[in-house]
Formats: sequence, C-alpha cells, structure tokens
Amino acid sequence: MGGFCIVNAPIYNALVTHNKKLMSSFHTPGHKGVFFKSFDNLFNLDLTELNDTDDLYSARGCIDKAQKLASDYFGAQKTLFSTSGNTLCIQAMLKIATEGQAKIICARNIHKSALGAIVLLGLDVVWVFPKYDAGPGLFGRISPEDIKKAIIKNPDSKAVYITSPDYYGLICDVEKISHYCKSKNISLLVDNAHGTHLACFEPSLHPIALGADICSDSAHKTLPVLTSGAFLNINNKSYLDNATESMALFGSTSPSFPILASLDLCRNWMKNEGNVAFSILKKRVDRIKNLAEKIGIILPRGQIDPIRISLGVGSIGFSPNECAEIFRKFGVESEFASDFYLTLIPSPLNTHKDFERLESAILSLKRKKSINYNFESFAPEKKLFPREAFFAKNKRVCIQDSVGKISARGVCPCPPGFLFVAPGEKITHELAFYLKKLGVIDLLVVD
Ligand SMILES: Cc1ncc(COP(=O)(O)O)c(C=O)c1O
Repeated sequence: MGGFCIVNAPIYNALVTHNKKLMSSFHTPGHKGVFFKSFDNLFNLDLTELNDTDDLYSARGCIDKAQKLASDYFGAQKTLFSTSGNTLCIQAMLKIATEGQAKIICARNIHKSALGAIVLLGLDVVWVFPKYDAGPGLFGRISPEDIKKAIIKNPDSKAVYITSPDYYGLICDVEKISHYCKSKNISLLVDNAHGTHLACFEPSLHPIALGADICSDSAHKTLPVLTSGAFLNINNKSYLDNATESMALFGSTSPSFPILASLDLCRNWMKNEGNVAFSILKKRVDRIKNLAEKIGIILPRGQIDPIRISLGVGSIGFSPNECAEIFRKFGVESEFASDFYLTLIPSPLNTHKDFERLESAILSLKRKKSINYNFESFAPEKKLFPREAFFAKNKRVCIQDSVGKISARGVCPCPPGFLFVAPGEKITHELAFYLKKLGVIDLLVVD
C-alpha cells in the first residue's frame, strides 16, 4: 500500500492511499479537500448537545440562528439542516406534504431514497416519465404538459415530486410546473440535490424562487460542505409546524456538529463569495465544453446546470468507463460513467491546474466510430401499491423467471437515478430483457 499505511484499518488506509495520488477531484464533495483548511480543525468541533451548542431537532440557540440565516439566504420561510444527506430531506419532504396514505404524482427519474420514503409512508403513486428531449443516452426532462395531464386525471393528488437538475445536469421547467400545481392547489416538491449552488448564480434559478413548496438541497455535492450536509427549504406556511418533527422521525439523534458547522460556513460563503466564485467556475466550464464540442463530443441539449460537465463521449466512440480510465492517467477523477456519458462535478474549489489536466485529458481523445445508444424505458403495469408489494411474502427468482410476476422491489440505480421497475409492477418480457442488460441477475417477486 505504497509504504505510508501504518495501521490495520482498511478504510483509513484506502482514503490515505487515494489522497497520496493527488488526483484532481471532479466528483463530490464540493469542498475538494481544501475549503476547511483555513478554519479550525473540524475534528475538534466534533462536540455534542451542550450548554454552549444546541439541539438540532429543538433548536433554540446557534443552530436556530444558523437555520434562520440560511432561510434568509434561500428566500425560504424555513430552512432545516440535515447531517444525513439529501436522503433525510427527501424522506421528510414526502412526509410533510402527505398525510395518511396519500397519492402523489412522481417523476420516474428519482433517487432511490424517494422510493424508500414512498414505501415507508405507504404512498400511492402516479408515475410521470421524462421526455427524450436532451439527446442520446439521457432520460430527458419531465414536461409541464405531462404533469398537467397527470393532475387533470388525478385531482386528488397531494403533491407533485420531481428531480431537477438530474445527475447529468438537466433542468426541468420548474416555473411552469409550479405555476400549474399552484393553480390546482397541489404542492410541488423538488429534489434539487444537484442544484443547491443555483442560488449563487441567480436566485431566480433555484426551485424555491421558481415556486416550489419544498426543496431538498444536497449541498455537499457542489458546495464546500462536508459529505452528508444538506438543506431542506420550505416555502409553504402550512408545512412549517410539522417540518422539524418529520426530519426527526427519520434522522439520527446524534447529528454531526462538524457537518452542521460546514453548512453554516457554506451559507456564509455563498452569500459573500458564491456569486463571483461560480461566475469564474462557469467560464472555466464553458471553455471545457467548447473544447469537447470541437472534437465531436456531444453535450446534453436544452437547459442544463451551467457548471455540470456531462460529456457524451459515446459520440466519439469511447465508452465512458474507458474514458474515465484515460482521464485517470491525466490525474483526473470523474464522478460517474453511464453507458454514453461521462459526468464530472466541478466546484469553485477546483484549481486552474485541475482544469489544465482536464483539458489535456480531453485533447488526448482521438475520435473513433461513434457508439449508437438510445436510452430505453418502459411503463410497467401497476398491480399493487409499492408498500404492499415490498412487505408481501416474496421469493427470489432469476431475471428470466420473473416474467409475468409482480416485482417486490424497485430497481433504481443511482447514479443515474431512474426507477426502471417499482415494487408492485408486473415484469414483462421486454422489461426483464432490459433489466438483464442493466446487470440485474435476479429479483425478489411477490410469492
Ligand atoms: C438526485 C439525487 N437525489 C438525492 C440524492 C441523495 O443525496 P444524499 O447522498 O445527500 O443523501 C442523490 C445522491 O446522489 C441524488 O443524485
């Protein structure tokens, strides 16, 4: 292990070994290992609920003040801090907006934590599939028209739930969707895991400014926040009272103070430096995208997060995994390789040198015959509620034998965050074939 590992602690040693390689981080977390160096050692701040600190789920002191400063910044009526990631915010957001066994209208391109919350809360779901509006290899965006149709057919729905931006950076028309939801008195919930920093560009791009009732912000992905730090932003008066209780229902009773402090420091940084820092980053990212396009790499079409780098390297004949390996040789570690796209997550904490390495890596790619790829998705028939199927008696069968049966589990790999089959849906021949292509070899089905 390179001679620098002195203890028998495999995780610690793996992390130290990785850091010794001095790779340029184009993956989460957004602090890139440098932001907190100028502050007090965060290890020393690993305290607990004391007279001098506060209690996250009944905050009256410093946490309460920090959350209020954050809600002022985001323009929300209330902001709650999560040290259990955006996952906790998603669980709480769905709980806050639904009471009892409610029905929701939900995008099919979701993170698996949303499916987990749907099962736990016993929700009924009307699924809306994204349109292929962003080019090959991408699910595309949820269209306002499809949300409108779903609401007309299901006026008893309590909320609409969408992901925007998605892993590749695709942004939906949140404003139009929110407008329609408001006109029908249905709440809009947005998983903004990948877009917390949008508040730094122009507040008008953030889902809260666009009319979302609740929005979860996985700050650690693109901002200087320790991993698992997230904000839950609420902008609906009727949700303010039970919001904290809903976070506490799923959250740990021992939240990490270093993560809370990093959220607090991040909000201060966003307010004072975020706009300038992200404008500089955007210029660097634009340069990378221009370079990529010049050598034939396609980029997602339509509105996209200005700082997300999703390179359709399949268009120049590279598999994204092969490309990630080449980039590694240039000292660049990417975030995620799908079948067609290689996605990188930069932040303002990336250095000039990081971008020089990335440029050299891109320029080294010699165009080959393009890979044909079109994303496929199916709308399986719903037979049971997700919760019913999840807790039904089940058995494991190999994927070929699952045809005609009802899935007891969801298949929702993240990244990229797409629900190929939900618990309670019937497996068809074509779906089983597709799941096999995804690498699914067996499945729990209802017995
Ligand atoms: C779209 C989306 N939502 C939610 C999450 C969960 O966020 P966290 O890892 O902060 O719990 C992720 C994580 O990758 C995600 O991509």
